[in-house]
Amino acid sequence: MSIEEPIISFDNVMVHYGDGAPVLKNVNLSLYKKSFHFLTGASGSGKTTLMRLLYMGIKPSSGILKIFNKDVAEISREELFEIRRKIGVVFQDFNLLNHLTVLENVALPLKVIGDNEKRRENQAKEILDWVGLGGCFNTLPDVLSGGQKQRVAIARAVIARPDILLADEPTGNVDEQIANKLMGLFYGMHQMGTCVIVATHYRQFVDTFHYNELRIENGKIVASKSNVGQGGGILI
Ligand SMILES: Nc1ncnc2c1ncn2[C@@H]1O[C@H](COP(=O)(O)OP(=O)(O)OP(=O)(O)O)[C@@H](O)[C@H]1O
Ligand SMILES: [Mg+2]
Repeated sequence: MSIEEPIISFDNVMVHYGDGAPVLKNVNLSLYKKSFHFLTGASGSGKTTLMRLLYMGIKPSSGILKIFNKDVAEISREELFEIRRKIGVVFQDFNLLNHLTVLENVALPLKVIGDNEKRRENQAKEILDWVGLGGCFNTLPDVLSGGQKQRVAIARAVIARPDILLADEPTGNVDEQIANKLMGLFYGMHQMGTCVIVATHYRQFVDTFHYNELRIENGKIVASKSNVGQGGGILI
């Protein structure tokens, strides 16, 4: 049996903004496909910073981060776009395009990978129906509530079945019933092979689902729970 390569690996990664103190330090982490991780830590501990590293919005200040076995410090622009196509992101502040309708926002990742218009529209409608936004296809994001925007962002992040799904506080604006439904969606993605990372303050999820918890404390990742043997896969 061959030894599986991690799809994300951190080797002594440190991040600081400008001249500030390190937000993340000595991060050593390997994450594998079909694994599920909760990313936790106090407000300001560095969860969004770690997500930014993973969608390559920022680069490590030092150390090596490899995604799909490519060193992010050395990739070309073309490679960056290619890798990003395989990563779905739910941003903490949603990042929806306000000049596009809800349907167009959600269908965008399929446009990027070259799906035809009919297929894009059908798939986007299906996922929007599923997240309870079937009545909002032609609405502009601006007029939606926070919880509705959040569901549009989630629909957009999962529609192209990414290999890595990064969800930054994805249930912060919805009620418990919808939050559970969305967690079911993330679980389904994980079961289909996606490496899922969910940043959350919602302790109930972390305690209920027996997934790996990556907790950031004083800039370091503390693995408080391991799910190796349950489709998890983490080495620290
Ligand atoms: N663009 C930036 N420039 C300078 N400092 C930043 C920037 N973004 C974040 N920081 C700082 O980095 C630290 C970590 O911030 P980050 O947003 O990663 O935390 P977080 O864990 O996501 O917090 P929250 O739970 O509130 O979302 C904070 O001290 C923050 O002030
Ligand atoms: Mg954050």
